[in-house]
Formats: sequence, C-alpha cells, structure tokens
Amino acid sequence: MANLDLTIVKDAAGVAAAASDMVESLLRSRPDAVLALPTGRTPIPMYVELGERHAAGRVSFARARGFNLDEWVGVPPTDEGSYAKFMVDHFYRLIDLPTSRRFIPNGTAPDLEAECRRYEEMIRLVGGVDLAILGLGGNGHIGFNEPGTPFESRTHVCEVASDTREANAYSFPSGVCPLRAMTVGIKTILESREILMLVTGSSKARILAAALTGPVGERLPASVLQRHPRVKVIADRAASGLLSPAR
Ligand code: GLP
Repeated sequence: MANLDLTIVKDAAGVAAAASDMVESLLRSRPDAVLALPTGRTPIPMYVELGERHAAGRVSFARARGFNLDEWVGVPPTDEGSYAKFMVDHFYRLIDLPTSRRFIPNGTAPDLEAECRRYEEMIRLVGGVDLAILGLGGNGHIGFNEPGTPFESRTHVCEVASDTREANAYSFPSGVCPLRAMTVGIKTILESREILMLVTGSSKARILAAALTGPVGERLPASVLQRHPRVKVIADRAASGLLSPAR
C-alpha cells in the first residue's frame, strides 16, 4: 500500500470533517472540479457538513460538476430508493450545484447499453474526474463494481450481489432492491486524478484491511486502489481496527 495515504480519525463526524476539508480545498484551488460522488450511509455526514460549509459561505459548487458513481436499473429518479433522489435529499438541496451540472446514469433509459456509453463519454468530454469519492461495500465493492468485475471495466450494467441487495434493502419502501444497477467502471474510477475513500464502522474493518494490505485482485474490487498513485483513505477507528498499528 505504498501509495495509499491513510488518515484515521475518531469517528464518523471526524471522517466527514476531514473529507470536507479535502473537497473544500480542491474547490478553492479548482472551482470547476469534476467530482465523482457516492451514495450509501457513509458519505451522508460529509454531505451534511459540506452543506453547512456552503451555508456559511466557505465553499461553492456553482462551477463544479458532480457525476454519480451508480444508479439502480428501472428506478425512476423521483422514486424513493433512486440514487437521483438520494442525491437531492442528502446533498444537492444543501448546496449550489446547478441542475445542469449534476449527472447520474439514467436507470430507466430504453437502451441501457447506449446510456452507459453516453455516461462514459460525458465524463470524457469534461476532461475526466478530478476527485472520485468512494464508499466501500461490505464485500469490497466500489460503486456497484461487485467482486469479479474486470479491472478494465467501463460504465456498465451489472447484477447486484445478494449481500449488497440485502445491505441496501432499507432504502426501498418495499424492502426489496432491484436486481441490476449501472455503475461507472473500475477503469474509469482509476483514471480519476485523485481518489478519496471513506470508511466507517467496525463492520467494514475486515474488508478494509483486506483491500489495503491484501493481494490486489478482481475478487476484491477496492484492492485495485493500491495501484492508483493518489489515493487517500479516511477511516474511523472502528473501521481501521484490523489495520496494523504501524499504519
Ligand atoms: C452501495 C453503493 C456504493 C456504496 C455502498 C456502501 O452499494 N452502490 O457506492 O459505497 O453501498 O454503502 P454504505 O456506505 O451504506 O455502507
């Protein structure tokens, strides 16, 4: 893990503060930065903190762009459970990122393969991602790149693993997740100029240690981060409990 910059903080609030510092400083030096953005429970405190910093006049997203990492297939953006709605509810309503600068795969597109190509092309057209912010799935996924996804993958439609569907069931009123999703691919994520992964809670300790210190391989998608030259991992004490103290 030679290139990995690991910061361990006390708790989820500390992760939110440290991650917000990084986003704020990027936007100060590069107001038109292209961000890749995650969903899930982990980034919510960072989104709240960035919303508060925006309200206090410390940070503006007016010239930035936000590209979501993933979206469920077949879930309209207005539906509870869609990541489009998640982003509005948890982040976009708190900041000044114009609607025209928010991007997310359309999981209800009639031709999903064409939609994946379109999304990938949009990322390319804006010059690629400056900072990709990632969560970590319980099975080591990043975005919705589940174990076994080729490291060469681009934006694609994927089958969501059964443990991932269970972990995300809470976000659907029906308690049932769709079987498929669309995700930015691993290769696309790796082309980001900088990557920030946020990890909180003891339930992620084993997979975080395996991803950062174990062998790199497609069975554990997050392990690919060991190959990126500029990765920062911010974890709370609970999530970093199985990393050796030397780290
Ligand atoms: C979902 C998302 C991932 C996210 C993961 C972890 O599967 N597609 O992008 O990283 O959940 O979620 P949480 O932060 O709730 O543990």
